[in-house]
Amino acid sequence: MRMKKILISGVKPTGRPHIGNYFGAMKQFVDMQDDYESSIFVADLHALTGIDSAQELKSNILEEAIDYLAIGLDPKKVTLFKQSDVPQVAELAWIFDCMTTMPYLMRAHAFKDAEAKNKDINVGVFNYPILMAADILLSDADVVPVGSDQKQHIEITRDIAEKFNRLFGKTFKLPKEIILEEFATVIGTDGQKMSKSYGNTIPLFATTEEIQKAVMKIPTDSKGASDPKDTDSILFKIHKLFLDQKEQVELKKEYERGISYKEAKEKLIESAEKFIAPLRERRAYWANKKEEVLKILKDGGEKANERAEKIMTMVRKNVGLTL
Ligand code: ADP
Ligand code: TRP
Repeated sequence: MRMKKILISGVKPTGRPHIGNYFGAMKQFVDMQDDYESSIFVADLHALTGIDSAQELKSNILEEAIDYLAIGLDPKKVTLFKQSDVPQVAELAWIFDCMTTMPYLMRAHAFKDAEAKNKDINVGVFNYPILMAADILLSDADVVPVGSDQKQHIEITRDIAEKFNRLFGKTFKLPKEIILEEFATVIGTDGQKMSKSYGNTIPLFATTEEIQKAVMKIPTDSKGASDPKDTDSILFKIHKLFLDQKEQVELKKEYERGISYKEAKEKLIESAEKFIAPLRERRAYWANKKEEVLKILKDGGEKANERAEKIMTMVRKNVGLTL
């Protein structure tokens, strides 16, 4: 029997996910859970770079675990855990810190963007890719499904693994990112990349009112009701996300024939509602089972910790910390 390949990924618990997070990253976790030995975690240590309220962090961690279960991750197939239950990542990150140069990390896009906005950024933001490398390499992963903005972090992970292997002997596998080109950048209601920080999202578990409000915000041009409409528009691109191939072709025809923007928006609301309603229901189910969710996280944490400890034992030995 061929062994399944190992998959790891995580998302920071920073509030409600949106459909960009879902199509760009989270959906892959669900689609791949049968074919890979998967571990998906709540990246709570990474979230600390931007959170200063214990209450908020605690609540966000639990809410994200509920989100994972609501999108269909099956705890019987996937190890679901919270990153801080594997404190070995912080230990490994320190070891990686000591073999990574400042100029190398200064080239990271995320750091450059953060620094351009605020010179007073914390050391955690600078070291973010190192902690991520530790997450990935301590899981012995072959593949890491992520959104396109995480590509460089996986490249950095490979560089670090290679350097470590060169200095201390073969210890780590070189993991590969998996990025869905089709959903590399899901656009928001204003046409920019959909992001929590731009206020242009459709929340993944949106209420009917939230869906309506978000769709109404989408800008349209001044074309007449029966004029052909652009299928390169924000409206069409967002609508497409909720449709299968056949439905996409149908909608394209309707746009080209000339559908009014009012009707096009009503149809989008309908499609979004059809897609989101079952997710919302499953979320309500899990939100009512907090004890069970906590137990799933605890069991997953123990499993992830055990696996990490095995690799960490080898790392400590290989760098010369074990006598
Ligand atoms: P946000 O920008 O809303 O704060 P995060 O940085 O928390 O999102 O991203 C979580 C995951 O979702 C990452 O893997 C990221 O690549 C993916 N992602 C976020 N926004 C989008 C988007 N608009 N399109 C595709 N993937 C996205
Ligand atoms: N940096 C990722 C994000 O912002 C979260 C993350 C942390 C992650 N560690 C990881 C993703 C390891 C994949 C693998 O969404």
